[in-house]
Amino acid sequence: MFLVTGATGGIGRRVVRLLRLQEKSVRAFVRLTSRYSELEHRGSEIFIGDLRQEKDIQKACRGVEYIISAHGSDGDTLSLDYRANIELIDQAKANGVKHFVFISVLGADRGYEDAPAFKAKRAVEQYLAASGLNYTILRPSGLASNLLPLAERFRETGLYLLIGDPKNRTSVVSTDDLAKIVVDSVTVEGARNQILPVGGPEILLREDIPQIFSQIFNKEPVIINAPLLVVDGLRTVFGLFNPQGQKALGTYRTLLSNEFFCRKEEIANLEKIFNFQLETLESFLRRYLAV
Ligand SMILES: NC(=O)c1ccc[n+]([C@@H]2O[C@H](COP(=O)([O-])OP(=O)(O)OC[C@H]3O[C@@H](n4cnc5c(N)ncnc54)[C@H](OP(=O)(O)O)[C@@H]3O)[C@@H](O)[C@H]2O)c1
Repeated sequence: MFLVTGATGGIGRRVVRLLRLQEKSVRAFVRLTSRYSELEHRGSEIFIGDLRQEKDIQKACRGVEYIISAHGSDGDTLSLDYRANIELIDQAKANGVKHFVFISVLGADRGYEDAPAFKAKRAVEQYLAASGLNYTILRPSGLASNLLPLAERFRETGLYLLIGDPKNRTSVVSTDDLAKIVVDSVTVEGARNQILPVGGPEILLREDIPQIFSQIFNKEPVIINAPLLVVDGLRTVFGLFNPQGQKALGTYRTLLSNEFFCRKEEIANLEKIFNFQLETLESFLRRYLAV
């Protein structure tokens, strides 16, 4: 039995689909407010709970052999990025789980002081690596599926908002490739007890993304390049009303102001371990946008 947290999210939903295609039994951890009917139709067991509640995690972990932690934090980094994962790891040990897959983030080890989500991911990585469990820690760069709404807006308007330096490098991973890597991690020997950066096959500049949209839709892009000062201004104003929210914006600023890409040799290593070729951003978008 696989327990998947974040089962209704961009990554988790795809992980559940793949597991069910392989006829694996899956317990999908969802909230009452989550959109989970697809997971149910695919034959997953639905566990309704809240990852902020330790007792829900304890119940969900009973009798599972594999845990895939793929939930997000809704801005509550301490409860969800940190505490929920620590509890999942403790419960994995208590239940004799065979393998734990943790979705971290590229750059978790860079020591960004202003980014609580990165700090929580790093602390969880260290806790998991020291737990004695078999594990795979995946550190993805940006997900291609995040760009689908932006591509749809581009299709209608030709507009693309780019905040920060357009020359910053990025590698965007196909969310379907990432889901396959997650699922294969529990069986592929080369993934056991590894921390793996996961990106797409090409290193892009951020300004390349509207150009890819342009090629796909055959439309000239209108790029609005806003400086990072806009985010700084927002943070200051936001902080007056919501100091917690201001801290969460620190993670967003970190994402916008730094480069997140995988080196060629890291991608070659990933393709070797999992024995398949990663998809380009353009290919992913064309599949989903049917163009
Ligand atoms: N997106 C990226 O570009 C990216 C890049 C690198 C790493 N990551 C990491 O990958 C993981 C998954 O990202 P994603 O983009 O697939 O996530 P997502 O689409 O934002 O989905 C978040 C998931 O977490 C669930 N969740 C949130 N709060 C919960 C709670 N209190 N109890 C139970 N479930 C809760 C959500 O459930 P509901 O459906 O009920 O909201 C949803 O299923 C995250 O850890 C993220 O940090 C993401």
